[in-house]
Amino acid sequence: MTDRFSLAGHHALVTGASSGLGRHFAGVLSASGAAVTVAARRESALADTVARLGGDGRTAQAVPLDVTDPGSVAAAFAAAEARFGPVTVVINNAGITSAGAALDMGEEDWSSVIDTNLRGSWLVAQQAARGMAPRGGGSIVNIASILGLRVTGGVAPYAVSKAGVVQMTKALALEWARHRIRVNALAPGYIETELNDAFFASDAGKALIRRIPQRRLGELRELDGPLLLLASDAGSFMTGSVVTVDGGHLVSGL
Ligand code: NAI
Repeated sequence: MTDRFSLAGHHALVTGASSGLGRHFAGVLSASGAAVTVAARRESALADTVARLGGDGRTAQAVPLDVTDPGSVAAAFAAAEARFGPVTVVINNAGITSAGAALDMGEEDWSSVIDTNLRGSWLVAQQAARGMAPRGGGSIVNIASILGLRVTGGVAPYAVSKAGVVQMTKALALEWARHRIRVNALAPGYIETELNDAFFASDAGKALIRRIPQRRLGELRELDGPLLLLASDAGSFMTGSVVTVDGGHLVSGL
């Protein structure tokens, strides 16, 4: 059974792997046996990710990628496959947010978030599937959020983008099952990272944590099992699924 979680012989590409969840996911996939391509805009940060994965260039490599640019997406896949062969697993993780009241937001707040989180995930999934379909399939894991399933104030474009990612996951799963491409989404709740620890130490952050049934933030390692389930053969009958990992946040009382 445990062998079904192995990614030996696979080539996984992780977008937005220069920090946070993406960098962590790259490590998890590498430890499970995959050759890993880490892709994002900041090449120096990517080099650091590759160094953390062993750095000998045989099982991890970096390629530049801007998910909002179709030419960059195509070039990233071409560069990744030139070295490590066909991409069989994609983690669609790159994402940004903007915070503020919807009445006050500028057009740019909307368009940048939708462009990166939704259109970018679409471009990457489509590029991946065009390679996977004629080669016998693969697994695409879209990183959504519990904010794609319920809302809170001050992050409207982000919540809309992630709801789009959830629906995109289902639409692509339906169309691509015939090509043996599985498309699933991982929807994390609030996970502790370097970027948000100051907020969660504040009064507003502590109040938010009290609304999570488990009364705590998630840890990066708590995403490992769900990620591997969706990425590997262990999830071979799963497609169009949205797996939440949130300490019960979505079932908090109304
Ligand atoms: P982060 O800011 O540390 O990582 C985001 C990554 O995406 C960075 O490497 C950044 O360079 C990259 N990126 C942004 N725009 C890009 C573009 N145009 N092209 C290529 N790469 C780009 O944030 P974090 O927290 O690690 O988020 C990763 C994903 O997880 C996002 O999709 C986020 O929405 C999602 N998420 C995070 C949660 C959390 O609690 N941290 C909870 C739920 C979802």
